[in-house]
Formats: sequence, structure tokens, C-alpha cells
Amino acid sequence: MSMPTVRMPVVAGEAEHWYQDAVIYELHVRSFADSNDDGIGDFRGLTQRLDYLQDLGVTALWLLPFYPSPLRDDGYDIANYRAINPAYGTMRDFKRFLRAAHDRGLRVITELVLNHTSDEHAWFQRARRAPAGSPERDFYVWSDTPDLYPEARIIFQDFEASNWTWDPVAGAYFWHRFYSHQPDLNWENPEVEREMFDIVDYWLEMGVDGLRLDAVPYLFEREGTNCENLPETHQALKALRRHVDERFPGRMLLAEANQWPEDAVAYFGDGDECHMAFHFPLMPRMFMSVRMEDRYPLVDILAQTPPLPEGSQWAIFLRNHDELTLEMVTDEERDYMYRVYAEDPQARINLGIRRRLAPLLGNDRRVIELVNALLLTLPGTPVIYYGDEIGMGDNFYLGDRNAVRTPMQWSGDRNGGFSRANPQRLFLPVIADPEYGAVNVEAQQSNASSLLWWMKRMIGLRKRHTAFRGSIEFLLSENRHVLAFVREYEEERILVVANLSRRAQYVELDVRHLDGLVPEELIGHTEFPPLSAERPYVLTLGPHDFFLFALHVPEPRPGDAAAPPPAIRSSNGWAGVFERRGRTQLEEALAKHLPRQRWFAAKSRKIRRVSVGDAMRLGPVRGEPVGYLCLIDVELTDGEPETYVLPLAARRVDDAPHDDPIAVVRGGEGDVLLVDGADDPAVARALLELIRRRRRVAGRSGSLEGVPERSLRRLAAGHDLTPAPLGAEQSNSSIAFGQGLIMKLFRKAEAGTNPEAELGGLLSAKGFEHVPRTAGVLEYRRAKGAPSLRAQGPGLLMVNEPQVGG
Ligand code: NOJ
Ligand code: CA
Repeated sequence: MSMPTVRMPVVAGEAEHWYQDAVIYELHVRSFADSNDDGIGDFRGLTQRLDYLQDLGVTALWLLPFYPSPLRDDGYDIANYRAINPAYGTMRDFKRFLRAAHDRGLRVITELVLNHTSDEHAWFQRARRAPAGSPERDFYVWSDTPDLYPEARIIFQDFEASNWTWDPVAGAYFWHRFYSHQPDLNWENPEVEREMFDIVDYWLEMGVDGLRLDAVPYLFEREGTNCENLPETHQALKALRRHVDERFPGRMLLAEANQWPEDAVAYFGDGDECHMAFHFPLMPRMFMSVRMEDRYPLVDILAQTPPLPEGSQWAIFLRNHDELTLEMVTDEERDYMYRVYAEDPQARINLGIRRRLAPLLGNDRRVIELVNALLLTLPGTPVIYYGDEIGMGDNFYLGDRNAVRTPMQWSGDRNGGFSRANPQRLFLPVIADPEYGAVNVEAQQSNASSLLWWMKRMIGLRKRHTAFRGSIEFLLSENRHVLAFVREYEEERILVVANLSRRAQYVELDVRHLDGLVPEELIGHTEFPPLSAERPYVLTLGPHDFFLFALHVPEPRPGDAAAPPPAIRSSNGWAGVFERRGRTQLEEALAKHLPRQRWFAAKSRKIRRVSVGDAMRLGPVRGEPVGYLCLIDVELTDGEPETYVLPLAARRVDDAPHDDPIAVVRGGEGDVLLVDGADDPAVARALLELIRRRRRVAGRSGSLEGVPERSLRRLAAGHDLTPAPLGAEQSNSSIAFGQGLIMKLFRKAEAGTNPEAELGGLLSAKGFEHVPRTAGVLEYRRAKGAPSLRAQGPGLLMVNEPQVGG
């Protein structure tokens, strides 16, 4: 039994690809929360609301532009790239926000507007006054006639008649793809690139995790082309990527390229341009599919989407801060979309629809859930637009795209809890529509059936499953109202079946290649009959219903040869089994391991879900851990949840066979077995040391604390303390330390003081002779406000004098 514990190396792992498993939340500082009641949201307000975002479960925040700006395009008209708009706070406020977000594990993505500046930017003011042909003038694109590049389309077609505007100061026309107050930078000029790279360094050095590259297809112009997606533009992006990779590995570039899939995919290069790009054409097709009650638009666009280079990832979305753009659809499709989603011409702007998600979908909860389920399960990193998680309304009587940029609604207080300012002072009015005025976070937090709670559960579900990082395969049945697909990554497979129709449907799925797999419905954890090669799998779905099934390899039946331990992939050794992907696999392995244990009390009940409530590192303060003391939360299909105490240790696969390994950890430096560490001498010694030295070890949600009694010193001093396991009883496991001490590990953790430990403590304090005296206990104290962990208080473990009195 005295197998050496294996120390697992800690290597930089998957963290570099964080954006592939992210859930992004898009917000504008100005509209989120106002801390100083001047009617404008600010960084302090946002920082105060980080708890909310963490609780929602998103993993990254994308902030719309917050730089000094005349705000004629909501900040996309930048006047200074290296400062904070004073209305939103100071640079200190920004840095505090960034730190607070990082402390919560939230990444931060900001805007990099490469294509144009505001006409108030110093570069433009300098350019228009500088002599023609000078480097200063050449920061922008000038012409004596407005006739150049006639094939370039006009994007803001409701506002601009030409991409050229006359500047009387320069005495020349300047080029602009957007508003005429947004002159395009001249990327032919190497000085422009140098300045931009400096700006990139400025923000990445500060710690920003990712940059959204605004309007990226338009950097270069060439006569005879539409001036989009030019080879020169791709060259510039490759140079930017090289620059970032050399200095800031692990940061992310996200391309905003509103293009057809084959043009959009070019922004990934060969894995040497952007890490991510928005999938614009997919977005309207999600809306088309539900409205037409037909999977065709969705399946078709994904079939047209080329595969991505390694490490690349789409960003997918339902709504954002702009109009729902209809540029990437055919004319007929656009007519259809206008007809069904924007009957009121007031709702239309440019080539799109200025509405939020809930009003677009007639505030139909089932449809809102359905499209969000698609967002969270189709290939790509989901981007959620602020307010859509509570089903906020819009106001298309406000100008431009302000319909969807109104203040976040926090509560039923004045201004929706956004600000205490006089309502007339707000940067935009709060939604007052009778149907949507009452929508707010506070009301929905207190109702577990609200959209907000549904979103939280679905975001949580998505994050637990790595299959969403992997491939997609459609199961095409005869019934086109039903969309079915399998997502797969490494060992995990998830089947998604969605009824796009407002009528109940049944579907017969061809599952021949999935023969024998057992579907587990992921919201209620009900096991469905196995898939079979013999016959189609028949499912019935209510209106706009959808199912998410994990497809499991069936459990071996009694009498089958012993199944090999489940595998956990970790490129990060020990730590990796507690990180997102490893953690899910560990939890699944534990769900199989626990019912086999004598001390597992709920044997007769079925496990719904196992989660690692907390894990505390054991061993020397510095160096590698000898193990972890874990609190394992077990949800059961019926009855109260339970929490178990499980020390984890690892040993090398070839050291010696273990009769009940929990899992095998693959990757890193060779495979190791993860085992119950209750009989591991190194773990036992580490636990005793915690008590003897009165040490504290912090976990994620609380901390372990050793509490020695005075007697411990006497009992331990000068004695042989070689640990020897005494085996597991019904509810605990014991280890003897030489002749002097016995350690008892209580397997089931209860809130409050363990009665046995408390009794032992009381009696030994009173000097009772005939009970084992408590020489110390190990306590777990839950941190204030930590997620619900049932174990707390004294009594995870105690050490006793073995033979007392007598
Ligand atoms: C795309 C942004 O999303 C939009 O809001 C902005 O107006 C244009 N780029 C111009 O910067
Ligand atoms: Ca403010």
C-alpha cells in the first residue's frame, strides 16, 4: 500500500485557447450602471455589477468603445485611442475594473477601431492642414475627385450618399466607409500601422485579453475592386497577429467582417490572422429557420461554411448593438425577414432591423429559449448581448441604432435601477413600453422560473461540456421542422434535437452509426432508451421544444469484465483535473466511483449529478502537492443532496495495480491513476501536519483549518508516527499513526459540527476517561457568500488517542 505518490507537473495548458470555451457578454459601459448618478453608465458602476456577471456564468466581457469621442457613432468615432472617455471614469477606474474582472476569472475584450477615426482625432486635424503629399496628410485617404472606387458599396445607406466627403480645409475629398465624420485611415502609410501597433501594445500591456477588430475588411482600397477583403488587408492582419503573438501569447483577435462564409473564413488566414471572427450569415438564418419552421437555412449556411484552421473559432450571436443586419442574405430572404420581423418601417434601418431579441420574437418565451439553445449549442463561441438574458425590450423611435442601446434594467426602482439621476438626464430613456418596462434583473433573480435563471442554467450546462468545442454532424430526418445534430469532441458526444415549429412534431432519426449509445437528457438527467442500429430513433417534441442528450457508452453490466477506469485529459497535471474540462470528466468519473464505496450512504438512490464543491491542496507549502482534499457534492434523483469528503492522490500507472482507481489522467508527463487517498501515507501525514501546525489552506469556496488540542503536542512528540491505514468502515476511514494516534476521516460532511467530533471534544475537555480523547480536528469553513456548499464547520476529520483509560 505504500505506493509513492506521483507529483504531477504543472505546465501551461489549454488556457491559451480560452476563447474556444468562452461565453462572451457584450455590453456598453455607458448603458450598464451609473455609479455617480449623472445619467451615464461608468466603469465604477460596471465594476459594482461584476458579481451579477459572474453569477450569470459568462466568462468574458466585450466592451463597446469607451474612448474620448464626440459620440456621433456611439464611440466608434474615436478621438483618442489611449484614454478613457471622462463621462465613463478615469484610467484608474478602468484599471480597477480590469483587475476586478480578472479576479473573478472574467476576461476582457475591448475595441480596436483600425479602419477610421473621428474627424476630431488629432491625426485628422493635423492631416487636413498639412501640405498635400506630406506624411501627415497621408494618414488618411484623399482625392481631388469623388469618383474613385465607385464599386465600393455604401454601408450606412440611410445616412450617407457617397463614400467621399469634401473637406474645405484640405481642399480635397477624404474617403470614409461609414459616417462622413469618420475618415478612413490610410493603411498604405507605414506610419499608420506603426501607430496602431503601439496602441495595441498599450492596451495589451495593461492586461486586456482580446481585441475586437472593428470594420476590418475595409483597411485598403484598390481601383476596380469593391475595396473589401483585399490581399493587402490580409497581409496587414498577418503582421498584426505576428506582432501580438510575439509579445502577448494567449491574447485574442476577433474580426468583425460582415461577409459571406468563404470571405469571412479568410480572416483566420492559415491560423495566422485572427483567432476568431463573427459568423454574420448564420445569425439571420437562425431567425429564418424558426420563422419558416424549417431547418434548411441553418443547415445550408453551415454546409457552406468551410472548416477552420486549428485554434480558430467562430463567434456566434443572435443580437448585438447594431441593427440585425441583412447584408448577408439574398434579396428574397431580406424581403422575407422584413415582412416577418419588421412590418413597421420604423423598425428598419440601413439594411437591417433595429430590434432586440425579445420583441423580435414576439416575447414568446418558448421561441426565446429555442434560439438561445441554438446559440449555445451550434459551433462557435456564443456572444450574449446585455439585457437579452432578461428579455429586455427596445424603442425604435430613438434615432440611429439607439433602439437597442437603452439602459440596463436592474430593478423596479427609478430608471430601472440604472441610475438615481433625474430621468430626463439619462443618456437615453429607459424602456417604458408597458410590456417591457417591468422587465428587470431583481424581479427575475427572485423567480427561479424566470428567463434569467433559465439562461444561467443553460450557460452552466454549456460550460460543463467540451463537446461544444468539437465537430458538428447533422442527422437529417424526413421531418424538416426538426433540426438534429451531434456535437463531438474527444470522448464526449451531445445530441441536440430541436423542433423549429410551433406545432408538436415527431421525428425518426437515423442513428445507425451511434448504435448502443445511451442518451441522457441533460436538463432533467433522465436516461432515455439506447440508440440502435436496428431501427430509427423516434422522438416526439412539443411546440418549439428541444432536447440536449449526452450520449454515453453503456455501463458494464454485472458479470462483464471490469471496465477500465474512465480517462481524464489534462495537459496541466494535477491542477488540470479541477479546471473546466478536466473537472467535468472528474465529476463523471466520481459519479461512477462513489456508488461502489462502502461509505457512500445513498447507494439505493440514483445520482443525478456530482460536482467538486471544493478542493484543497495538501502537502508542503511550496513544491508539488501530495494530494487534494475534496468536498464532493452529490445531487440525487430524489431526496436531499449530500456532500462527501474525498482525499485524492495520484500514482503512476505502472507502479502497482490499484483495485479501485477513480480515473486515469492522460496527458502531461505520462498517465497516472487518480485514487482515493484515504489510505495514502503521504496524504495522511499532510493532513496530520495541517492539524499539528494549525495551518489554513484556502480552497475555492472556503478553507481548511487545522485545530489542535493541547494534548496533541504531547501525543505526537517523540513518538513513531508511521501511518498505517486501518481500512474503511461504514461511514469513515481510519489511519493509525504509530501507537499514539488514530485519524478518523468522516466521509459524509454535514453542515455544522460533526456530532462525534463535538462529543469527543466536549468529553475530553471534561476529562472523561473512557472515550477516545480528541487531540485535534480539521475544519472546513465556507467563505461568506460562496456558492452553496453544505459541508462546513468542524469535523471533517479528527485525531484521537486510540486507547484511553482502562
Ligand atoms: C461596426 C460597429 O459594430 C458599428 O456600431 C459601427 O457603427 C461601425 N462598425 C463603424 O465603426
Ligand atoms: Ca455616471
